[in-house]
Amino acid sequence: MRRKLVAGNWKMHGSLEQNKALLDALVSGVTQSEMSECAVCVPFPYLCQAQMELVGSPIKWGAQDVHPLHQGAYTGEVSAKMLLDFGCQYVIVGHSERRTLYGESNELVAEKFAAAHASGLIPILCVGETLEQRENGVTEQIISKQLDAVLSLVGEHSLDNAVIAYEPVWAIGTGKTASPEQAQHVHLFIRQRLAERDAQLANKMRILYGGSVKAANAVELFGMPDIDGGLIGGASLIAEDFLAICRAAK
Ligand code: 13P
Repeated sequence: MRRKLVAGNWKMHGSLEQNKALLDALVSGVTQSEMSECAVCVPFPYLCQAQMELVGSPIKWGAQDVHPLHQGAYTGEVSAKMLLDFGCQYVIVGHSERRTLYGESNELVAEKFAAAHASGLIPILCVGETLEQRENGVTEQIISKQLDAVLSLVGEHSLDNAVIAYEPVWAIGTGKTASPEQAQHVHLFIRQRLAERDAQLANKMRILYGGSVKAANAVELFGMPDIDGGLIGGASLIAEDFLAICRAAK
């Protein structure tokens, strides 16, 4: 049985003061027995704060990006080893905002995935199609390419300790959620694609849905057989909403 995971992606939001209030509310609202697994991916400068606030609680934390190399002259970049210094368990790689706004290719995302995985972090690999791609009927091709870049660099066995997040670009921050059936269709496609390589791995892989998940639609989405939780943007910044989404994944 796959344990559901609900991860918050704070993106470039927060301040020491706001984070403190949010994390305090999450820690006091979360109860280990009742909940699925729950994590927050915070901006780099707040990793230390997340670690201090969350250590000893059931909530895990992580980052939103990582560089493929351990160290070197890469101004502005952060390595997996650095994330581990702050107790991170998770790191998002290949979010569509990074692919689109910063031109991250499938190959670069695969390198980031490999570095994160090799260092012991659990990468959350984001895949998903744009509206245009969906309308052109190439959703499955796009997602296959995104997955294959990682599979061909690290091999399917390196996917054992990883998470995939299906995030249709047209549903991110738009208030337009994929219907549970639309999401399930793609999740099943991803699982089948993995199963062609390794059925056991495919069965174990947690595949999250991301894109305008709210407390109001989470139960239905998480009720689909191949949706193993969510990657939550906007709603992860409001403690009550995020906790409700975590409860929906119970
Ligand atoms: P929203 O939940 O705000 O649509 O963002 C989804 C997302 O991009 C999570 O990574």
